[in-house]
Amino acid sequence: MLRGTRKFFCLRLEFALPYPLTITMPKITFTLADGTVRELVSEEGKTVLQIALENGIPMEHACGGNGFCTTCSCDVQNGQIMIDQGAVNPVNEREENMGVEGPDRRLGCQTKIQGDVSVKIVEI
Ligand code: FES
Repeated sequence: MLRGTRKFFCLRLEFALPYPLTITMPKITFTLADGTVRELVSEEGKTVLQIALENGIPMEHACGGNGFCTTCSCDVQNGQIMIDQGAVNPVNEREENMGVEGPDRRLGCQTKIQGDVSVKIVEI
């Protein structure tokens, strides 16, 4: 048996988080095309399309969520939304180019949730 000094290594890791560790979980109320209402919570900053698909809510997305098809059109009511991480509420250039019209009409794949919101899925 070897005699000698055993070396032990102690690795201490410290992390400094660059932001407060709080996650906001807004309430999203989906009204489906058939009138069914589903209420759920999700992380702030996710798109309407992401939230729908993660929760088994049928929402068309022919272009894969890239803002080129309008199949994810929905009416976003009673809440704060963010388009492409910019200002709250205005229709972005991509939505204008795709002919999205109406005060509440948005592309679900371009609309990020910032707070409690109601979303009505529309058939086009
Ligand atoms: Fe195609 Fe949103 S999924 S525009």
